[in-house]
Amino acid sequence: MPLDVPQTFRHHVFCCAQQRPPGHPRGSCAANGAHPLWQRLDQKIQGKGLADIGMAMTGCLGFCSAGPLMVVYPEGIWYRPETPEDIDEIVDSHLVNDAPVERLVMVLTR
Ligand code: FES
Repeated sequence: MPLDVPQTFRHHVFCCAQQRPPGHPRGSCAANGAHPLWQRLDQKIQGKGLADIGMAMTGCLGFCSAGPLMVVYPEGIWYRPETPEDIDEIVDSHLVNDAPVERLVMVLTR
């Protein structure tokens, strides 16, 4: 039975910041351009004063070749943003208005 516990954040965003050396066989989100996107995300969240949105940098989330990857909870929706405008859309649509950005959703399976 699921526990009904108070949530600290309305949305909690985890962003893979893993860096591996150039040429590494697994690649990495950082090698795929993650860091500027996560900086943009942080700036947008701070700039809009979204105190109910949590953001954390993580190590590898396990799907390296698909990166840069971020995942938004509690929905567990994975995104692969490519541009600063993608980040803006995720913030404005999903994090502010609870409407996921379908065109950027990644469905990842093991
Ligand atoms: S390096 Fe980001 S998912 Fe593995």
